[in-house]
Amino acid sequence: MTDELRRLRAQVSSLQSLLTLSKLMGDSGDQLRIVHLAGTAVPSLARCQLVGVELAGAGWGLVGPAGGSAAALREVAGALQRLGQHGGAVASPAMAPGWVWAYPMQSAAGHAGFLVVAAAAEPPAEERFVLQSLAQQTGVALINARLQADERAAAEAALEAKREADRANTAKSEFLSRMSHELRTPLNAILGFGQLLQLDDLAEEQAESVDHILRAGQHLLGLINEVLDLARIESGHLALSPEAVGVFEVIKDTVDLIGPLATERALRIQAPSPRECAWTVQADRQRLKQVLLNLASNAVKYNRHGGSISLSCHAGDDGRVRIAVADTGPGIPADKLPRLFTQFDRLGAEHSEVQGTGIGLVLAKRLAEAMGGALTVASVEGQGTTFTLELSLAMEPV
Ligand SMILES: Nc1ncnc2c1ncn2[C@@H]1O[C@H](COP(=O)(O)OP(=O)(O)O)[C@@H](O)[C@H]1O
Ligand SMILES: [Mg+2]
Repeated sequence: MTDELRRLRAQVSSLQSLLTLSKLMGDSGDQLRIVHLAGTAVPSLARCQLVGVELAGAGWGLVGPAGGSAAALREVAGALQRLGQHGGAVASPAMAPGWVWAYPMQSAAGHAGFLVVAAAAEPPAEERFVLQSLAQQTGVALINARLQADERAAAEAALEAKREADRANTAKSEFLSRMSHELRTPLNAILGFGQLLQLDDLAEEQAESVDHILRAGQHLLGLINEVLDLARIESGHLALSPEAVGVFEVIKDTVDLIGPLATERALRIQAPSPRECAWTVQADRQRLKQVLLNLASNAVKYNRHGGSISLSCHAGDDGRVRIAVADTGPGIPADKLPRLFTQFDRLGAEHSEVQGTGIGLVLAKRLAEAMGGALTVASVEGQGTTFTLELSLAMEPV
């Protein structure tokens, strides 16, 4: 290799770092700075003049040597473009010195554009080699710089998205705690004073009205609590206190609570004996009760007059306890089952006399999952529905 060639190589790499630097200095400036580089003669390439750089996707930054008119430049640029990705030479009679070569700037990762030089005649092999490697190294530098810039932009975008999500989350939890206070406070006053009124000596009609107020108030309170619970789960703000909870005890509490409702509808409740249900599960006691109450109250609401509700439990070899709540209601048609755990979807019950909101089951499922469990359903139309709550065993049977 001649000394001349070695010097040219050094120039190639300094030009390459210039290009990299200009790319790193900013996106909008990138084309401009590179075009600035164009027009400077590559000193040691005696017969060639660097007349431009074309950047793929950014257009041609062709700068003509002295004497090149704008029209000639446009014509040359068009002709170079038509050569395709491999570049080549085009004659430019209108533009001294006469011929323009486009050397592709590319790496294995892609095509960055062309390095454009002008000369009167084809440069000798040695100079062509230098020009080719100059183009190639510039391509590698440009593509790498582009990849780096893309990566930086992606990282920046991800960070901004996370900041945005955090802001939304904070706003949501603030809204929740506010709403929970703002809605529950007046509602508790309504319920409290309603209860006081109930103690008074009321005429029959008045007593009925107070009863309406209290029942509607309770319904609203239940609804608010459910919506807030659901929102809390969704924003990840549900606080659970997991402990070992005796299954029989929660089943008994549930049965006690729905007993009066079941009696009203002449429903028989079958519950397991303490011996049949001597398991403890890992769960939040209050939330577990809430889930079972939801399932049991559905079993009461969606049942036939004089039917039955059966609660049972069973521990599997897999360390899971399954609590089943079965009813003898109309069942859920197979084509509606996929919609079952969808909030506010009452599967048509909204046209019936049965009161509800369509949140209970979604909430029950989400609560079960938050406690590391699951809630599944099996239903036979015309015969009844069984919901199965599955939780992890906390310890050996007592
Ligand atoms: N045990 C059941 N038997 C038949 N249908 C049921 C049963 N439980 C729930 N469903 C249906 O699923 C819907 C959603 O239940 P749920 O989320 O508890 O809401 P809600 O009881 O307030 O309507 C109910 O409206 C009802 O149509
Ligand atoms: Mg319900």
